[in-house]
Amino acid sequence: MAGSNEALPGLCFLGLLLCLCSYSAAAASTPDLLYLNLLWPGGYCHSVNLGEDCCIPTTGEPAADFLVQSLETYDSSSGNPITNCNSHCRFLINPLVDLIEDMFAYWPNLSCPSNNGMDQWRYVWCTYGNCTSLSEVVYFNRTLLLREQANISATLNSYGIVPDASITYSLEKIVKALESTLGSSSFAVECKRRYTVWPLLYDDYLTGIRVCVSSDATTFVSCPTVLPTNCGNNVKFAPILYASSGGRQRDPTANPLRLPSAMDMLL
Ligand SMILES: *[C@@H]1O[C@H](CO)[C@@H](O)[C@H](O)[C@H]1NC(C)=O
Ligand SMILES: *[C@@H]1O[C@H](CO)[C@@H](O)[C@H](O)[C@H]1NC(C)=O
Ligand SMILES: *[C@@H]1O[C@H](CO)[C@@H](O)[C@H](O)[C@H]1NC(C)=O
Ligand SMILES: *[C@@H]1O[C@H](CO)[C@@H](O)[C@H](O)[C@H]1NC(C)=O
Repeated sequence: MAGSNEALPGLCFLGLLLCLCSYSAAAASTPDLLYLNLLWPGGYCHSVNLGEDCCIPTTGEPAADFLVQSLETYDSSSGNPITNCNSHCRFLINPLVDLIEDMFAYWPNLSCPSNNGMDQWRYVWCTYGNCTSLSEVVYFNRTLLLREQANISATLNSYGIVPDASITYSLEKIVKALESTLGSSSFAVECKRRYTVWPLLYDDYLTGIRVCVSSDATTFVSCPTVLPTNCGNNVKFAPILYASSGGRQRDPTANPLRLPSAMDMLL
């Protein structure tokens, strides 16, 4: 008993040090700005060329809508991303059971070969999510809610901007429409330039929208620095088309994610 009493001041001192150290480590790496990256499959997958850049996930065709890619963590004063905050980061599928259908529909990994999205969720969680102060389920849930709140498809449609293989919209018109829900200077439109006759003839296809978000992942904020756009003045908003006959096929040998067994494995 006497021995443990003597050890007490020492332990307190050690505890204080640990506390101070972990506090300064956390303070140095706390993101104060998030970027929500949404992708438009029509432009992202190159639907004019049968969606050749994408493979339909093993979990089925995602929603015909803007889809989540990531919610990135940034330090607004330096403008640098804050990533990989914990080397012991683990991604668990169990806490996401109530969100899994929405994840399949709105947060797929469209890259080839076909896959169930898990690797991308793990990557996004351990690269960015784990740097926020949010739990895994809150991080993924809020990201999905932000996508819904951004309401990009419906907003564009209500301004007469509808997916069409031949119409070209002015970037200005697209920006005006999105400002109505996202606020001004809170987002950037992203494009991919695809040449028909290099370097003379090309189209800029809308591939996604990047939106500035508060650090608690609840609201759109005006960006501290203007986000660059790589779109020209005229933009194509291509209809969604996945490879079915001419493009790359869904890989029939890939295993779909079966939740009960995947969860058993992780339990
Ligand atoms: C980040 O990952 C570590 C290790 O798994 C965990 O202890 C910590 O709680 C995570 N942080 C957040 C915000 O979830
Ligand atoms: C996601 O957030 C909404 C709004 O706060 C809440 O109603 C819902 O229960 C949450 N879902 C999960 C799985 O946590
Ligand atoms: C998306 O899927 C592709 C193909 O399965 C894989 O190579 C890639 O690593 C995945 N993306 C992420 C971020 O995990
Ligand atoms: C999305 O936008 C449409 C068109 O402006 C509007 O009717 C609808 O209520 C909006 N939905 C949400 C969830 O904000």
